[in-house]
Amino acid sequence: MKMYESYRGLPMFAGIGTFDEVSRPGLSVEQCVARVKRYHYAFKRLHQIFTARITAEPIYELKMAFSLHAHMCAEHASALRVRVGEMREPPLGLDVVPHPALEILFDEILADPTTEELLLGLYEKALPALKRALEHHLADTNKLVDHRTVRLCRFALLEIEDMISFGLCAISKLVDAAIPKKFSLWLAVLDDCLAAVALRDPNPAVQKDLSRQHSAKPYVYDPLPKRDERFRDPYNMGVNAEVFLYDEKFPPRPKTLMMFYKRLREIDVPEMMAGIITQTPGKPWNYYRDMSRQLWDEARHAMMGEVGFVKAGVDWRKVMVNFTWSLALNTQLKPIERHAVLYFIEQGLMPKNGKRFEWDVALASGDPLAAVFQDYDWADEVLHARIGRDWYLKDFGNAQEAVKYGDQCWSRVLMRYGDECLSKVLMGWRQWRDEGLTQHRNWWPDVYLEACKNWGVEPDPAVLAYDTSYETVRADLKELTGSA
Ligand SMILES: [Fe+2]
Ligand SMILES: [Fe+2]
Ligand SMILES: [Fe+2]
Repeated sequence: MKMYESYRGLPMFAGIGTFDEVSRPGLSVEQCVARVKRYHYAFKRLHQIFTARITAEPIYELKMAFSLHAHMCAEHASALRVRVGEMREPPLGLDVVPHPALEILFDEILADPTTEELLLGLYEKALPALKRALEHHLADTNKLVDHRTVRLCRFALLEIEDMISFGLCAISKLVDAAIPKKFSLWLAVLDDCLAAVALRDPNPAVQKDLSRQHSAKPYVYDPLPKRDERFRDPYNMGVNAEVFLYDEKFPPRPKTLMMFYKRLREIDVPEMMAGIITQTPGKPWNYYRDMSRQLWDEARHAMMGEVGFVKAGVDWRKVMVNFTWSLALNTQLKPIERHAVLYFIEQGLMPKNGKRFEWDVALASGDPLAAVFQDYDWADEVLHARIGRDWYLKDFGNAQEAVKYGDQCWSRVLMRYGDECLSKVLMGWRQWRDEGLTQHRNWWPDVYLEACKNWGVEPDPAVLAYDTSYETVRADLKELTGSA
């Protein structure tokens, strides 16, 4: 073989590997499929865990990262499903648990009661094991015959490395050095699971009795949204962003601040969608893939708001980003009803006074960053309306029925707190106040003044005096008041 050369020394075999890598027998189709099914199962369970833990995780940065990592895992699981289908595999058996130890591993991580354990389980145990498995696949298989899988492994490795590097950094900042010791018994269970089933090897070398700890009782999803201490007044509905935004007497530039607020407030959409995804079993896989894509978009929109405020020189802790929407929906409606509300709201974003209006305002403000945020926010919401048509509307006889049902579900949430004359008050404005959860303080002047200082402009007295809360927003304006 020493003598073998390509034409004029060009890279051989389309550049996919060395002669050694394309000439070894590698893995048979059967061996390859057995491994791919394990990777697929791992991504599927990781997607489930990341999603289920978004709502009740208080730390904003972790919420955002879990949203991204859930999306990535769903995408890789999807690609691997397609691959299994290419390998003489019907029936695909993609719902079969490939090994009981793997099931225990992911059940344990899903059910762990603390953020610290969650981080350690995901980023120090499960993801590194999956990384090693994919690296072994690349080392073991024939890169020519199994090129399709090789490509999927390489793409997946790129993102697994991103996830691990985020996770290890998070562990170094959040997990006290003594903690792994405290959880050493539990972490040993995870190690035992991984030893019992090398992700890459269908024939386990070590057999140990695996006993469940956290997952001895079945996991129960926690639907109550939580926020970290920077969200100081999470029931505050003291500043009505939409009334300001749609009032023609106000100039566009301060309106960009209101749009940053609306974007940042979109944290509540992942908190709400995570519950729909987690509590709706038995859908075709692409339902979970598409819903997770949307969930991640909503998380990105929240971060656009964060970036916008920082760029405008505003400390966003002064902006009272509430969770009243996700809280009300998660505690009052069934998953299908929440999906109906989401669909109803997102259809309402499409007419001319919705996302297009926000983009026009941002363009008129002269802030190119605000404009590009709204440009993409609009594009994403168009996609979400389609995801709604694909996965919500399909179950209804006609579109009108579907919208009506969403409207009814939404109204039920709105109505729950009101008395006769306040029956259309939005989601408990009065209730939150009467229970002493918030005073609905008007935070707008502080935020506006801070931005004006940074912009080097005199505050506009009319803008500064803005003081409309959500108390009197009527149901006939409700298409303007939702999140999403
Ligand atoms: Fe958005
Ligand atoms: Fe949204
Ligand atoms: Fe959306």
